[in-house]
Amino acid sequence: MRLSLRFIVPLAVALALIAYAVVPLVDRFTLKWFERDLDIRTSLIANALQEPLEPLIREGSRTKVLRLFDRILGDERLFALGFCNPNHVLVYKTLTFPAKVTCAVTGAEPAANVSRVVEQGRGPIHVAIRPLESDGVVYGSLVLVHDMSFVQRRSDDTKKYVFYLFTVIAAIISLITVVIAELSWRGWVAGFKALIRGETFGRAGGEVHMRELRPVARDLQALIRDLESERRTRDDSQINWSPETLRMILRNDLKGEEVLIVSNREPYLHLRRNDRIEVQRPASGLVTALEPVMRACSGTWIAHGSGSADRETVDGSDHVMVPPDRPAYRIRRVWLSQEEEAGYYYGFANSGLWPLCHIAHTRPTFRSADWEAYETVNRKFADTVVQEAATRDPIVLVQDYHFALLPRMIRERLPDATVITFWHIPWPNPEAFGICPWRESILDGLLGSSILGFHTQFHCNNFFDTVDRYLESRIDRETYTISYGGDQTAVHRYPISIEWPLHSATMEKPVAQCRADVRGRNGFAPDAVLVVGVDRLDYTKGILERFLAVERFLELEPEWIGKFVFVQIAAPSRSRIDEYQNFEERVRALARRINGRFSVGAYAPICLKVEHHEPDEVYEYYRASEACFVSSLHDGMNLVAKEFVASRDDERGVLILSQFTGASRELAEALIVNPYDVDQCAAALRLSLTMPEAEQRDRMRSMRGEVQEFNVFRWAGRMLLDAAQMRMRSRLLARADRGRKLISTRGA
Ligand code: F6P
Repeated sequence: MRLSLRFIVPLAVALALIAYAVVPLVDRFTLKWFERDLDIRTSLIANALQEPLEPLIREGSRTKVLRLFDRILGDERLFALGFCNPNHVLVYKTLTFPAKVTCAVTGAEPAANVSRVVEQGRGPIHVAIRPLESDGVVYGSLVLVHDMSFVQRRSDDTKKYVFYLFTVIAAIISLITVVIAELSWRGWVAGFKALIRGETFGRAGGEVHMRELRPVARDLQALIRDLESERRTRDDSQINWSPETLRMILRNDLKGEEVLIVSNREPYLHLRRNDRIEVQRPASGLVTALEPVMRACSGTWIAHGSGSADRETVDGSDHVMVPPDRPAYRIRRVWLSQEEEAGYYYGFANSGLWPLCHIAHTRPTFRSADWEAYETVNRKFADTVVQEAATRDPIVLVQDYHFALLPRMIRERLPDATVITFWHIPWPNPEAFGICPWRESILDGLLGSSILGFHTQFHCNNFFDTVDRYLESRIDRETYTISYGGDQTAVHRYPISIEWPLHSATMEKPVAQCRADVRGRNGFAPDAVLVVGVDRLDYTKGILERFLAVERFLELEPEWIGKFVFVQIAAPSRSRIDEYQNFEERVRALARRINGRFSVGAYAPICLKVEHHEPDEVYEYYRASEACFVSSLHDGMNLVAKEFVASRDDERGVLILSQFTGASRELAEALIVNPYDVDQCAAALRLSLTMPEAEQRDRMRSMRGEVQEFNVFRWAGRMLLDAAQMRMRSRLLARADRGRKLISTRGA
């Protein structure tokens, strides 16, 4: 419809111009040309008659004059002839001579050359008077009357042909204009689309269309970015991030769309203990962060069913509703064989990628068999995502380094899905990453994501550098996007956090009570001063370094011997891997050595608890302690630091925090230490035990404000909002595309 209008309107304008301006103009010109023609012709006839007429006039022979006139009238266009004497009397005239014409018709002297067009009944006639001379004396004038109806006929023909000719030209020009306009419109649309998507102008294909846009492109992109970041900052700071906020985002921004989470670790394990089944919440930062999010959003959490009673507790389609006491969402358990688990989880993920990404001086081990298992398991999870997806475009939140290949596999099977991948561990520099034999496949897999998140900008930058080094792609560091193989991935920093406020009965228990209970339960002295460390038993956590700092502290400050107790809660982890078994032995041995050195009676300075603790128990230790010591050698974020802060609603306690954690970028009021610097750590321990209460309060208050504001609902909400915006953009683009196709179809 619009296409035909674009053609018809200019054509109609051109036709009106032709009819009312061009044709009358051409008509006037042709008339003038014919008049001039007739004038010349008239003069020629008059000159030719001069000589034969003069003797006949003198002779006064009427018959001879009229015979001569009749002979001349043989010319079809000469209509009548007459002769006027010098006194303007019409002496001779042919029978056809119009009555209206007299010798005075022109009012001119007989000596003057006069021509005039006169209207009469049959149409216009051309009347010309030409003086006749003999020996320089005027003896009369010849009146020549030409019939001009042929001029009229020709003029009508000319008008017709001119009209046709110009109409054809106008139609051709309109058509060409429409085609050119359509082509450049497409170019502009493509250009603006790319612009909205945040693409720049380097790509050969886009270059042609977008050259004209260049002058405005940068300004437009900057404007969009400014508006977005303004909105983001304004929105973020104005929102009170809570489970309700997340529900609102899902309701309003995502219109209740389907959310699936995929992680290796499940949030609730069912374990068989003799004849009972127990539910356990694993020691996992990932679970700590995502569980409250899932409680708020509902949906399905797909994870490896690794509990000994997991199979007994699922329904026919491997689902189980959780939390057990107040079901809010469901787990879909994926079963792995022992070989699959050995190759994928203990092998490629935790003996390869884990040490590769953590610069903690443990060599990664890469084995082809592990890689094959990793691929197989990723594919198994992709199948499960497809099975669980009730729509063709779910939002899938893929978690962590266990699933680097999964985003691409999902994209291939569900091209309309929005895949948000979050990498919970650090991303190393390109040189370090480059030792992985399957580095390109891992990058390719991750770039199947719509959004890829890291905890810190530093890790995002490392990822950009790595992709730049190993893949043919286009990286835009202004918009933080990577275009690769026709897809675009937004790479952003989303610092993970914990729920706020903490959801735990322990928070109802006064700090003094927690202290008394912990001391009593562990047989510590009633005035024992506690510092706590909480980790999985993992070599990246800096547990050995922490113990060495305790040893150094007691060396330097012996007055604390007998009073100071360092409680290390160490959740057993990945214990089938040699590296982890060795590590546990080393930790136990070091604790034994230090305790041997400083023990007095029943007192030992290090209380090492290698066992699983439920969150409520862990919070009790946090509340009972003077300080919490986080000494990771390399850590994406470290949520223990945030949990400690969140648990201290009494605004007391000191956080000692490794500079190599993502958390140290946010919790600046902690005592930031280098875990490799044993003296500095010992000094921090001393400072934490002697810090005035007012300073503890100021520091803790500030850190609590930070964790409250940047809680896990904000982390998830920010990603979901970005996903919502991305989905809205691609729907708008798809609609624009459909509209354009419709126009072309109708126009064709
Ligand atoms: O730190 C990476 C991570 O996946 C965390 O997200 C999680 O807390 C931890 O490892 C759990 O490890 P696993 O699932 O192997 O016990």
